[in-house]
Amino acid sequence: MFNALIGQAPNFEAMLRSAKMVAATDVTVLIYGETGTGKELLANALQSQGPRARKPYITLNCAALPESLVESELFGHRRGAFTGAVANQTGRLQAADGGTLFMDEADSLPLPVQAKLLRFLETGDIQPVGDSPPFRVDVRIIAATNVNLEEKIAKGEFRKDLYYRLNVVPLEIPPLRERMGDIQLLLNHFLRHFATAHKQPQPTLSNRTLARFLDYGWPGNVRELRNVCERLCILLAGRHIEEEELPEDIARTTVQWGEFILPDEGVELEQLEIGLIQQALDRTHDNRSRAARLLGITRDTLLYRMQKYNMR
Ligand SMILES: Nc1ncnc2c1ncn2[C@@H]1O[C@H](COP(=O)(O)OP(=O)(O)OP(=O)(O)O)[C@@H](O)[C@H]1O
Ligand SMILES: [Mg+2]
Repeated sequence: MFNALIGQAPNFEAMLRSAKMVAATDVTVLIYGETGTGKELLANALQSQGPRARKPYITLNCAALPESLVESELFGHRRGAFTGAVANQTGRLQAADGGTLFMDEADSLPLPVQAKLLRFLETGDIQPVGDSPPFRVDVRIIAATNVNLEEKIAKGEFRKDLYYRLNVVPLEIPPLRERMGDIQLLLNHFLRHFATAHKQPQPTLSNRTLARFLDYGWPGNVRELRNVCERLCILLAGRHIEEEELPEDIARTTVQWGEFILPDEGVELEQLEIGLIQQALDRTHDNRSRAARLLGITRDTLLYRMQKYNMR
């Protein structure tokens, strides 16, 4: 359902408008978005609002399988086609016949499988691994990726012709930091949702706390925001949350990004790093775990850098 996709920012709404138009068709769709932006949610909406809503909906996460298995998962195999192929197996394309196949993380398809997929997209024919004649299936493909496929093409890791064939209608979900207006909307939604789900009084946010949420870069996008909300609903149920009360790791991650402005005369990056590490150690009385947290790195990384700079 498109209702499940919360967001009113102009760039998000524009994407949704295109999505609603393509949902009514059988056209191949390529969804692009950073991790946690809602690609799977969008794919589900496209399927459930389209003409194939009541038909099979099969998912294949192309990155979750070893390369050697992707082809047979997708196209099926004949008994004896390779060691371990003890019986005929139906591929996901065949299982999706009449319906939709959602190919998640499509960027990780091995090149030979990309060639075979392209053939399917062009002819509608699939050929199971092993000795068997090709046959026709009727499947609508929705593919998703969080990788810049043009860069992969430039490196020779993704076929240009397949890219164009998949990219008939591209849907790009903007990252959260590019639709800041939606942060508050999502916060309200998730705080209410998790307070209800966990039967806790809903927490509220002070203006300064809210400002931190708006400043943050949200590398994990909506998924990260959602998880933070669930945590707040449990740890700070019913509270008016001040900035200082944010759990330590949230406070740590909600550092202001891009605050430091490179001076015209430049900096000595290594000296700057040594200085920051020293300050973090001083401030935490040499507690290396806490110093690492202040710097937003792991303890191991901190130790590695201290060693690199011969610091104690
Ligand atoms: N616009 C949105 N409104 C409400 N919930 C959302 C929205 N976008 C994402 N979510 C929620 O965020 C979480 C992550 O979404 P989803 O799994 O679809 O992301 P993804 O882009 O597929 O991530 P990944 O690249 O890591 O697989 C899910 O719980 C999903 O329901
Ligand atoms: Mg996903």
